[in-house]
Amino acid sequence: MEWVLVFNALIPVLVVVEDYINSYAISCLAPYLNSLCGYSSMVTALILNLIGGTPVVKLSRIVGRDHADVYVKLEFLNPTGSHKDRIAYYMIKDALDRRLVKEGGCVVEASSGNTAMAVAWVSSLLGLRAILVVNEDASPVKVAAMEALGAKVILSRPEEKRNIAERIAKEEGCVFLNQPGNEANVRAHYETTGPEILKALSDVDAFVMGIGTGGTVCGVGRYLKERLGSKVLIVGVVPKGSVIASPEASSRDVIDGLSSYSVPDIVKRYRDIIDRIVEVGYDEALRTLARVVRYEGILGGPSTGANIHVALKVAKESGKGKKVVTIAPDTILKYPKVLKEIKHLTQ
Ligand SMILES: Cc1ncc(COP(=O)(O)O)c(C=O)c1O
Repeated sequence: MEWVLVFNALIPVLVVVEDYINSYAISCLAPYLNSLCGYSSMVTALILNLIGGTPVVKLSRIVGRDHADVYVKLEFLNPTGSHKDRIAYYMIKDALDRRLVKEGGCVVEASSGNTAMAVAWVSSLLGLRAILVVNEDASPVKVAAMEALGAKVILSRPEEKRNIAERIAKEEGCVFLNQPGNEANVRAHYETTGPEILKALSDVDAFVMGIGTGGTVCGVGRYLKERLGSKVLIVGVVPKGSVIASPEASSRDVIDGLSSYSVPDIVKRYRDIIDRIVEVGYDEALRTLARVVRYEGILGGPSTGANIHVALKVAKESGKGKKVVTIAPDTILKYPKVLKEIKHLTQ
């Protein structure tokens, strides 16, 4: 009985300590997160510091001998397993700085899954509530992770999720992050992913990246063009029949995280950064992914397969001595269904 009284007496002290930790987390994070230091020898009390600083690996077994070198930045090594940790932190920090949301307040996002997972994680660490509107066919692993992080998840048809998210934000007095139009999305990649790539490789001839919101291709592309000039080729990857490349197509493939049915506002704003847009079929992406997993040991997700499929084509065109860089946005471990599908592709 006595320890209960002692514990109750300690509650106000614990609340003050927790408030202090939360306000430290909100106000004192390094602006470039882990980008400039890397985390191999780092011990941190704040897991948010582990965003970014991801390694780059050179492909060694599936690239043609006379082709350019192909490098892959392993973004699935971010804490929630995707490049979206960067933008979730940037978008939420931006909303806090602009006082659109206060500690204890709430954020709403519409996402195919990775951004929602990252928003759930950042929100739980910064003492915010998260309501996430997610594609009804999203990976069950991602949905379960969001719920474990304390978020409320609403499943919806892909074409309806944005309107639903906007309505909920209005009704509940929350901030709607709106990743396809949010400038903090582009800024996250301009200020962190781009500099990390150039720091790792010192020179780049082509950057290849799938377009979901376009935040990565436009943010990194803009950074690389400012530093290296127009000689660097920026290539966007979309599913076969995507409205971004083929508005008139009668059918559109779906690759998790990439945009098939809409042109995001970021892509409209930064269209001049992207030199070329290449379409990839779902089957082609999966066939390449199967080889990447089997022969390179990179356990990327379906969009990694699409990115590397196009990076290999660009490497063939560019030729020996050039450097082509792409990204492994997330991991196949988030997609139990895809793990089963690729099993048959290398047998
Ligand atoms: C797995 C995956 N790959 C690629 C992308 C595309 O990234 P971006 O939104 O920066 O264009 C996303 C975006 O959701 C994604 O989840």
